[in-house]
Amino acid sequence: MTKLKDRILSPSAYVSKIKPYIPGKPIEELEREFGISHCIKLASNENPLGPSPLAIEEMQRGLVGLNRYPDGGAYRLRVALSEFHSSSHLHGVDVREIVVGHGSNELLDVAVRTFMQTGEENIMADPSFIVYYNSTVKAGGTAVKVPLTHDYRHDLPAMSARIIKHTTRIVFIANPNNPTGTIVGAEEFDAFMKGLPDDVLVVVDEAYHEYVTDEAYPDTMRYFREGYPILILRTFSKVYGLAGLRIGYGIADRAIVREMDNVREPFNTNSVAQAAAIGALKDTEHVRKSVAINEAGKAYLYEQLSQMSVKYIPTQGNFIYVDLAPEGDYKDANGVYYELLQRGVIIRPMGKTLIRVTIGLQNENEAFIRNLKEVL
Ligand SMILES: Cc1ncc(COP(=O)(O)O)c(C=O)c1O
Repeated sequence: MTKLKDRILSPSAYVSKIKPYIPGKPIEELEREFGISHCIKLASNENPLGPSPLAIEEMQRGLVGLNRYPDGGAYRLRVALSEFHSSSHLHGVDVREIVVGHGSNELLDVAVRTFMQTGEENIMADPSFIVYYNSTVKAGGTAVKVPLTHDYRHDLPAMSARIIKHTTRIVFIANPNNPTGTIVGAEEFDAFMKGLPDDVLVVVDEAYHEYVTDEAYPDTMRYFREGYPILILRTFSKVYGLAGLRIGYGIADRAIVREMDNVREPFNTNSVAQAAAIGALKDTEHVRKSVAINEAGKAYLYEQLSQMSVKYIPTQGNFIYVDLAPEGDYKDANGVYYELLQRGVIIRPMGKTLIRVTIGLQNENEAFIRNLKEVL
């Protein structure tokens, strides 16, 4: 055992910089640990409606061929995605401009491994999605974190100013941002893109794209079409309700896609997930309904939190960033998290007085508010 520890268990200097990704607690785990039932999870920005029946149907068809390896190139899904995007964008998206991943999470990692070399830098906002940081440091890069503005938005001019020619390789922009739910607007995005050196890749992570209602939200597809160095990431984990299957995709110039395809694992996405994604794309009504439920839940939570004088950041996603101590009346986020857990409600503590809560179904939102009132 000692030998194993000495020789193998000391990770590389890069790996030891990783900050553990702490996922939302699974419902089953909470019920097992606390001996309770009927728990509610509002911790991982999942779609409380579940997947579309069309996705389930396609998945069932996909089950039959499980003795075979999946199509590593996910051709049928890329054709479906190409048609899906071509119907809404003037010039369409070619199948060669689409890379499919084991969740958009994998594609973030693949983008870093493909385009950043050890010793180079990537830029990201702080706070933002932790995977940008971890993917960068574990590949031997420097993660440059640029604080959000005072109103919790990406500070694009400051991010731009941090770009070092020939050293900065990727700028990550989560739009909407996780955990704040804020967006980068079209005008500021345009100025940012136009000031960019041409050897820097912009990864725009649009995991919550479908939930956005703000008209200032940029159409990033335009920049892809105009030949800017951009990779647009989307996922089936959020509004499509398929987080458990792990499938997402990226849109970029075919040269970018080709390089990422060389780096990703040959069979990175499974055949059932590919089939489900094809089914999910057909169900625009399911997406519409999911967004409507999110909007209603958002309005309810805003109203309730305001009544309780709890500060929240208006969101463009399916989650709300909440500050439990707006007037310095200290409320420890971890303490609130554990007390809510004991009551069967899982949310996400995000730092000293901050929590992030996913917008759920009406009964789930009501349970969260009822229990939060008790805890506070
Ligand atoms: C901003 C952002 N990007 C990407 C992801 C990961 O999505 P996926 O399930 O497609 O890996 C998440 C999930 O929480 C997210 O918040």
